[in-house]
Amino acid sequence: MIVKILQFGTTGQLAIELLRQAPNHALAVTALGRADCDLADPAAAAKAVIAAKPDLVVIAAAYTAVDLAETERDLAHRVNALAPGAIAAACDQVGAALVNVSTDYVFDGAGGAPYAEDAPTNPLQVYGATKLAGEQAVSAACARSLNIRTSWVVSAHGKNFVKTMLRLAAAGNPLTVVDDQEGRPTAAADLARFILSQAGRLAAAKAGDPAFGLVHFANAGEVSWRGFAKAIFAEALGDAAPEVGATTTAQYVTPAKRPLRATMDTAKVKRVFGVSPRSWRAALSEIVAELKAQ
Ligand SMILES: NC(=O)c1ccc[n+]([C@@H]2O[C@H](COP(=O)([O-])OP(=O)(O)OC[C@H]3O[C@@H](n4cnc5c(N)ncnc54)[C@H](OP(=O)(O)O)[C@@H]3O)[C@@H](O)[C@H]2O)c1
Repeated sequence: MIVKILQFGTTGQLAIELLRQAPNHALAVTALGRADCDLADPAAAAKAVIAAKPDLVVIAAAYTAVDLAETERDLAHRVNALAPGAIAAACDQVGAALVNVSTDYVFDGAGGAPYAEDAPTNPLQVYGATKLAGEQAVSAACARSLNIRTSWVVSAHGKNFVKTMLRLAAAGNPLTVVDDQEGRPTAAADLARFILSQAGRLAAAKAGDPAFGLVHFANAGEVSWRGFAKAIFAEALGDAAPEVGATTTAQYVTPAKRPLRATMDTAKVKRVFGVSPRSWRAALSEIVAELKAQ
C-alpha cells in the first residue's frame, strides 16, 4: 500500500531530509511550506489536514528560535502548541495517524539523565514549554499520534551547530565554546529515516498500538558542545583544526536558559520499533563528507 503523507515543513533540516528520503519508500508525500500553510494559523493547518485526508501527517516545522522565543512567547506557543493540537484534532477527525517532533529541552537537565519517556518534565525556557504543551495537545486530541523527542539536530543544510562552528573557524577568530552542557547530537537524516521507516506501521496501526505515544530518538553517545566542536573540527579540518577554549553556561549568558544535561534514554525506540540509533560520530562523518562535497 502506498501511504499518503501530509508533511508540514519544507525548508527545515528534518523536512529536507524527509523529502530527500521519501522516494526510497512506498509513500506519496505532499509537503506544505510556510507560504502554503503558516502554522501561526492553527485553524488553517487543521483545514489543510481535512482537505488532504492523508493516512499520516508529519509535523516537520516548528518555531525553533530558542532565544527569540523568550520575547515571542505567543507566536512560539501558536506554532509549537496550538497548531499541533489543531492538526491532531483534524487527524482524529479524518482518521489520519500523526507524528509530531519535540525536544529534550522539555527537561531541566538538573539531574536524572539519561531521561526515559516517563521522566518528569520541567522546561527551563519558553521554547521547551511550548514544545511540551504541543506534545500534550497532540496526545490529548489524537489517540493515533506519536510524539518523538529529539536533540541537538544537525545536518548539511539549514542552521545548525556543525555549520556555525565551521563558519566561525573559517573566519579565523579565537573560539570558546560551552563545556558544561552535554547532549546527544542527532542527524536530521537519521531521524527522517526512522520516521519514514515507520510510516507504514503508523498509518495502519490502531489506537492503543505501542507505536503510538511518546518516544525518544537521538544518536548514540553523549558530548559537551565544546567536545562536539572539537570533533567537528577534527573531522572537517584534520591537522588544521583550531584550538577550542572552554567556557561555562554561567559565563555564556543567553536570553533562554539551557539544560546542563538533558540527554535522553533511547531504550524504548529499540524496544518498540527495533531501531538502534548509530553513534553521533558516525552521523557527523557523513554530514562533514556531504558538506565537503557541496
Ligand atoms: N534543531 C534542533 O537542534 C532541535 C532539537 C530538538 C528538537 N528539535 C525539533 O525537531 C523538529 C525539526 O527541527 P529542525 O531542526 O528541522 O528545524 P529548523 O531547521 O529550525 O526548521 C524549522 C522549520 O519550521 C518552519 N516554520 C517555522 N515557523 C513556521 C510557521 N509559522 N509556519 C510554517 N512553518 C514554520 C521553518 O520554515 P521557514 O524556512 O519558512 O522559516 C522551517 O522549515 C522541530 O520540531 C524542532 O522543535 C530540533
